[in-house]
Amino acid sequence: MSGRPSSIARLAAILDTGGEPDRTLGEAAHALRDATGAERIEIWRQEVASPGFYLVSAPAADGPELVASLDLVPAGGARALLRPGGGDAVGMLRLVGDTPPEFETAAHLLSIYLAGVRIGESRDAESAEQDRAVDEARQFTSLIIDSLPVGLYVVDRDYRIQIWNRKRETGTQGLSRGQVVGRTVFEVLTRQSESKLREEFDAIFETGELRQSDMQVETPDGPRTYRLTRVPMRLGGDTITHVMTIGEDVSEWREVQGRILQSEKLAALGQLAAGIMHEINNPLATIAACVAAGEGRLSDVAGPGIGPLREYLAIIDKEVQRCTNIVDGLLDFSRPKAREKAVAQLNEIVEEALGLLRHHKRFKQIALHRQLAPDLPPVVVNREQIIQVLMALTINSIDAMESGGHLTVRTMIGRRRLDEVVVEVEDTGPGIPGPVQSKIFEPFFTTKAPGRGTGLGLSICYGIVEEHRGRIEVESQVGRGSTFRVHLPIDFDAMMADMAGAGA
Ligand SMILES: Nc1ncnc2c1ncn2[C@@H]1O[C@H](COP(=O)(O)OP(=O)(O)OP(=O)(O)O)[C@@H](O)[C@H]1O
Ligand SMILES: [Mg+2]
Repeated sequence: MSGRPSSIARLAAILDTGGEPDRTLGEAAHALRDATGAERIEIWRQEVASPGFYLVSAPAADGPELVASLDLVPAGGARALLRPGGGDAVGMLRLVGDTPPEFETAAHLLSIYLAGVRIGESRDAESAEQDRAVDEARQFTSLIIDSLPVGLYVVDRDYRIQIWNRKRETGTQGLSRGQVVGRTVFEVLTRQSESKLREEFDAIFETGELRQSDMQVETPDGPRTYRLTRVPMRLGGDTITHVMTIGEDVSEWREVQGRILQSEKLAALGQLAAGIMHEINNPLATIAACVAAGEGRLSDVAGPGIGPLREYLAIIDKEVQRCTNIVDGLLDFSRPKAREKAVAQLNEIVEEALGLLRHHKRFKQIALHRQLAPDLPPVVVNREQIIQVLMALTINSIDAMESGGHLTVRTMIGRRRLDEVVVEVEDTGPGIPGPVQSKIFEPFFTTKAPGRGTGLGLSICYGIVEEHRGRIEVESQVGRGSTFRVHLPIDFDAMMADMAGAGA
């Protein structure tokens, strides 16, 4: 049989083609049948994922094509188990018809082939597992990026956006990922100038340095400050391939920072003032005493000069009194006396202050609006001092509205903090320009004509409110008016006692 050795050679050639295994095995069965003239050749293969064997090839199939074990393969014919490396059977070769001598050799070749296929398949499974792990890691990373409470986006060297996180999608501009990924940053961030943006990114691509800047953004809820951090990224190699931009809302932090700065400045000023005032108090007291003594001696002096002399002494006395008032005011600012405090209702204090002002001559030109929140929790204050604060604020507002306007006094629970009550004095005056706003709480800062204001009013208010563990703020727009806001801590003990009393 000349065809016989060549049948093995052909089988080997087919198995060597490296095609899809089941197809290759199908072809092998065909070739074997042709070469051996067998009635039927079956190759059974073990399934990879589940137990059992299936029929890969059987020209003119009959009987089951899937069996749980090789014992269940239909009876009859010659069989050879396919056991790669002599291990467990992973398949079977079955031949119906005359068994040719190369039957065992064919089975051996098939075993070797299946061993190779199985190694390949397990490698595939391994790399699929690896792919899955990489996928999971990727998902986890994007989850982290999306959970960040900051806006984040990444551009490549062509300024094209590659990553755009959830916070960016919900931010002020609210553009979805689908709308921006792949487009250039200039097409997307149209509110910023293209040349400036390009410059900023180029600087990082060139220098490889991280850059930080603050940006003011107008939003429907007022201006907000964002801190932008641009971080150079290198994706393999030394050159910078991407720049990540992180935008963090730092408005609150900025505000607090500003307040701390101001209170530090005022505290330093207060110390200075207290020192000077202490030194001035003594000479003032001496002058006042001398004036009193001089007045007492006036009767001893006779002659025409006595009239003017009496007048001079009166002037000195008046001016000394003025100085004393200023010194007292300044001391109130620098070291407000911790006067006795008692539980009080803010609305009552407001009414009292407004009552005292009723007789102010310019009050008549002004429309007064009261918006006092009912049922406010109580505060612990020195009544006189808070009245003094409210009067100073109200008089400032009246001064600011020389030709009339609206004055609104409001009380409420703190908007941002629920543990304080707030009283607001709002006017429709000319407003206070930004740069001036940071100075108005300083002692002696005044824009009023000499003799009309000492510039101590707001600084005293500041000292008093601080001493009450509260804070005073201004919000003003030029041309629109000003609002001064005094925050005072709620006295929860008194509130509880109140509630208990009401319940009893
Ligand atoms: N409601 C307001 N509208 C516009 N500007 C104001 C207002 N309140 C205060 N200011 C500005 O702040 C400055 C300081 O106010 P502050 O009360 O400390 O001093 P003053 O009113 O000038 O003098 P004083 O209160 O000692 O008589 C004012 O001179 C004014 O420029
Ligand atoms: Mg004033």
